[in-house]
Amino acid sequence: MSPIKRLFPEPGQRPLRQQLAITLTAILTLSILVAVLLLNLLFGWQARELIDQRAAFFMDAMLSVRAYTSKKVNPIVAPLNQGVGLFRPEAVPSYSAQTVAGYLKDNPDYREYSYREAALNPTNLRDKADSFETGIIENFRRDPSLKRQSGSKNTPLGTVHFVAQPIKVSKESCLVCHSTPDRAPASQLLAYGDSSGFGWKLNEIVGTQIVTVPQKAVFAAKDRSLIATALLMVLAFAVVGVITNVVLSQLILRPMREISRKAEEASVTPATVNFEERERRDEIGLLARSFERMKQSLAISMQMLKDRKGQG
Ligand code: HEC
Repeated sequence: MSPIKRLFPEPGQRPLRQQLAITLTAILTLSILVAVLLLNLLFGWQARELIDQRAAFFMDAMLSVRAYTSKKVNPIVAPLNQGVGLFRPEAVPSYSAQTVAGYLKDNPDYREYSYREAALNPTNLRDKADSFETGIIENFRRDPSLKRQSGSKNTPLGTVHFVAQPIKVSKESCLVCHSTPDRAPASQLLAYGDSSGFGWKLNEIVGTQIVTVPQKAVFAAKDRSLIATALLMVLAFAVVGVITNVVLSQLILRPMREISRKAEEASVTPATVNFEERERRDEIGLLARSFERMKQSLAISMQMLKDRKGQG
């Protein structure tokens, strides 16, 4: 006999309570399995949503730092950069956004967060696109309608989620510092040299803003929630199982055992047995009424037998 056949024999081969326990366990186990599979999809979707939201928030926060620099800081600092003195990068939105992101990263809680403005031909060589970033920038340059790229990225800290946007030379004013060295402030040339970060064209995509946010921790939290939910379901189903067993026992098994005990007794001394269960309005009552009738017929037959013996 196969193990499954042994577990689910023809009905009636075991006590009802065991048959019910096996059936119930099978149904509940299957339900939990299906529920866990579906919840895994749902929780996974929620986790990705959360990661995306964090990335979007981080990107927008960095864009705000950029805007603050252009609107509030640049007007004050830019005039100082006109001469041949020290170049103050605080006037440059790219510098301020990346510096703020660097401070955030110093906090161990945010080690997996990063913000970069990577360019193929950067002013600051620190911003030189690596091979991964170059691939992203090439995609943006090939397809100008592409506004966003995202996915997983392997780093020394593990796998993180990245979101990238194109950086376009949108204003003529950018070209003052990024077209030819003779247009750029002398202080900038002193600080960065004249060999890189020039030759940009209006409306050209020159680089990418790219944020990374943690992904492993979010998925680990998702897995923990899934396990906790599965355990809660097992617990809830165990309670349901125990209650069903008790109810079944009280409602059916005990009265049935009682009726069969009385039927046995009635087969010998029908007169002394009383099937009180016949008052019940369920199937147990039906069974008790049938036995009651059988008991009466039996009593009559026995009486007739006795009378005949007396005559003979
Ligand atoms: C006053 C000169 C100046 C102007 C105007 C300017 N930039 Fe820059 N830009 C710089 C300097 C200097 C850096 C390097 C800053 C640093 O050290 O982080 C830089 C850096 C960048 C970077 C990061 C990559 C790199 O080259 O290091 C991007 C992207 C960028 N600028 C885009 C722009 C855009 C777009 C505009 C116009 C909206 C613009 N810049 C206007 C001077 C300028």
